[in-house]
Amino acid sequence: MATKTTPLTEENTGKDTVAKDTLSITDNRTGKTYDLPIENGSIRALDLRQIKQSPDDFGLMTYDPGFANTASVKSAVSAIDGEKGILTYRGYPIEQLAEQASFLEVAYLLIHGELPKQAELDDWDHQITTHTFLHENVKKLMEGFRYDAHPMGVFVSTVAALSTFYPDAKKLDDAECRMHQIQRLIAKTPTIAAFAYRHRIGLPYMYPDNSLSYTGNLLNMMYRTSEPQFEPQPVLEKALDVLFVLHGDHGQNCSTSSMRGVGSSEADPYCAMAAAAAALYGPLHGGANEAVLRMLRQIGSTSNIPGYIKRVKNKEVRLMGFGHRVYKNYDPRAKIVKKIADQVFEVTGRNPLIDIALELERIALEDDYFISHKLYPNVDFYSGIIYEAMGFPVEMFPVLFAIGRTPGWLAQWQEGHLDQDQRIARPRQIYLGSDARDYVAMEKR
Ligand code: ACO
Repeated sequence: MATKTTPLTEENTGKDTVAKDTLSITDNRTGKTYDLPIENGSIRALDLRQIKQSPDDFGLMTYDPGFANTASVKSAVSAIDGEKGILTYRGYPIEQLAEQASFLEVAYLLIHGELPKQAELDDWDHQITTHTFLHENVKKLMEGFRYDAHPMGVFVSTVAALSTFYPDAKKLDDAECRMHQIQRLIAKTPTIAAFAYRHRIGLPYMYPDNSLSYTGNLLNMMYRTSEPQFEPQPVLEKALDVLFVLHGDHGQNCSTSSMRGVGSSEADPYCAMAAAAAALYGPLHGGANEAVLRMLRQIGSTSNIPGYIKRVKNKEVRLMGFGHRVYKNYDPRAKIVKKIADQVFEVTGRNPLIDIALELERIALEDDYFISHKLYPNVDFYSGIIYEAMGFPVEMFPVLFAIGRTPGWLAQWQEGHLDQDQRIARPRQIYLGSDARDYVAMEKR
């Protein structure tokens, strides 16, 4: 609801009495001045609707493609200071969480708002671990995909299909039921991801081993063959856990907005999360890690970098893994990913693409184009190089991103559902098409 505001006429601008936390707008078409309240550094868009040329005028709207300067929610999940390059989850700096917390602990924090005590974490861990299996019919459904299906397409479709297995998920106002779906989704995403991978390479699906950690079990389901017990490499298990922490949440990005948008229609969380994962798939969002790897391979050698940079500056191609809508400084997650790379390479051997990436970054950060456009590496610039060193094929990169982002999507979905201010997402449009006209019969066209 718009806060009621009093239009002030030109003759009575009320300048002496105008409250401090307000914005005065003069409509030069009519000469009228309006006084709009400012709250949390923003005005309510609906307050603009009283600004009209005539009583039957619809009223003023804002035009904001890509929502570059429009807040559609109030959120307490994660915060980004794009100018300073700071990211916090529920107030905790990402650097501290990446160093000291496990992914499941961070998932608890994102969902519940506070860090868990030991008993709470143990219970949470137990709930997630005991929901990792998929219904056998989900497995059969996944078998129906083409032999070379992209695992992200399989992931999106399978998450949506879960909606048909859990009709209880429609009880959105039941807090216990909501938590059940949240735990199911966090638990099952690694299983779906691993099955999608094994389907593509023609290996039998490997069931979860609930004696392993969250990431240890994912590695088990992806890579185990005939050994009776899979033993995950501890450095890689930990590195993957940290990568998931880094992807946990990130404000109102494209996929999270999709999750909230679909959630606002009161669809169940499986359908909403399928939409979020679909949005993540694109190369401008979570698909960028895959695109970075393909770009680095295409560049092929450090000697080809200047030529590639030239093409970027001519706007023929984009430097994938660079730039961000919010960060106008180094993405703090990219700094952490860069550090993990060395630990991973000690186990896996050095991925030669890292040399191309480091040199590309060095040249770009000294170049006027990148400096003036405030383009810095984002999280996707280095994550793919680590994933590749760990043996993941490029097609799996966005799927891994989706596993990490699942708790953030769900925390935001639940926050949106409980927010009394929220209504169904329904942006306005500026219609520039034909005026109303009569249908023309086929023979007269
Ligand atoms: N390479 C070259 N130029 C770029 C890049 C890039 N990666 N990113 C932005 N620019 C330039 C644009 O050409 C434009 O230049 P201009 O003002 O001279 O016309 C300017 O910077 C602004 O670009 P926009 O596309 O308007 O910025 P926007 O905020 O809409 O886009 C985005 C952000 C999509 C992330 C963009 O930077 C991009 O395409 N990056 C590459 C893809 C990528 O890495 N995506 C991952 C993002 S992080 C994540 O989702 C996890």
